[in-house]
Amino acid sequence: FCSVSESEFSALLLIAGVCVAVDLTVNGGVGGTVELPSALGRLKVEDFDFLKWRFNGRIIAEMPSGQAKENLHAQFKGRLHPDFNLTVKELRLEDSGEYEREGMKEDGSQIPSYKIQLQVNESITSVWIQSEYTWDPENHTCAVRLVCSSSGGLRPSYTWRMRDQTGSSSRLHFYLSPAEGNVTITCTVANAVSQMSRNHTVRCIPTGDQTTGNTRAHIMMYAYIKI
Ligand SMILES: *[C@@H]1O[C@H](CO)[C@@H](O)[C@H](O)[C@H]1NC(C)=O
Ligand SMILES: *[C@@H]1O[C@H](CO)[C@@H](O)[C@H](O)[C@H]1NC(C)=O
Ligand SMILES: *[C@@H]1O[C@H](CO)[C@@H](O)[C@H](O)[C@H]1NC(C)=O
Ligand SMILES: *[C@@H]1O[C@H](CO)[C@@H](O)[C@H](O)[C@H]1NC(C)=O
Ligand SMILES: *[C@@H]1O[C@H](CO)[C@@H](O)[C@H](O)[C@H]1NC(C)=O
Repeated sequence: FCSVSESEFSALLLIAGVCVAVDLTVNGGVGGTVELPSALGRLKVEDFDFLKWRFNGRIIAEMPSGQAKENLHAQFKGRLHPDFNLTVKELRLEDSGEYEREGMKEDGSQIPSYKIQLQVNESITSVWIQSEYTWDPENHTCAVRLVCSSSGGLRPSYTWRMRDQTGSSSRLHFYLSPAEGNVTITCTVANAVSQMSRNHTVRCIPTGDQTTGNTRAHIMMYAYIKI
């Protein structure tokens, strides 16, 4: 059995049978920024003698009487901003781990320590749409098949939006008539730590030999790329 902090945020992680109690779990994306709360309640800067932050047991920041020293660990060089809270910038996968805030009050009494589990996950870095169109002269429509793909992020989920319709899949199949003009489709990819969208505008333009069966349609396609 293990003791758990009384914080509302308490979470138990069972890792290989070892019980580890953390007060808060924070998710961050590679390249992003997180602010780890000191959770000092009503205490103010002038109420404590020092604050220390540890990463997996090693001291990474010290704040004795308002003066912050942050480069105590090469991994975090230039990426920590210890203030009241600890800000970690330009997150890397290896920043995942346990952060512990320790502290002592002006009167010499210990401030209960606070543990945060940080999980840094890959952010989605790009989204693209592959398309295939077939003109059906009998129906006088284009059959449109789109596939949305992404790179970077783990376990992405896909959402389509076209006019006022939405769908959750990486594939979209629909019919478009020339009379409908330009239609903009948005694919949004999201994972635990990031989200990215891409727009495609499609238009069905009938071409080719109208007397033979299916002819590949001539489709104007405009991609608006989010940077
Ligand atoms: C520290 O973080 C807490 C919780 O996220 C927030 O409410 C508070 O405003 C932050 N304090 C400062 C000084 O940024
Ligand atoms: C994020 O990374 C952690 C390891 O740091 C992993 O356990 C977790 O499953 C990942 N979450 C997602 C949503 O990929
Ligand atoms: C003709 O178009 C309609 C939608 O406009 C579609 O439901 C139907 O399946 C199409 N028929 C063929 C043979 O492609
Ligand atoms: C469709 O988009 C193209 C390219 O942006 C533009 O030239 C054309 O006028 C648009 N058509 C309509 C009906 O909006
Ligand atoms: C996609 O188009 C919508 C309007 O139809 C616009 O509000 C949005 O910003 C666009 N998104 C991107 C990623 O270009």
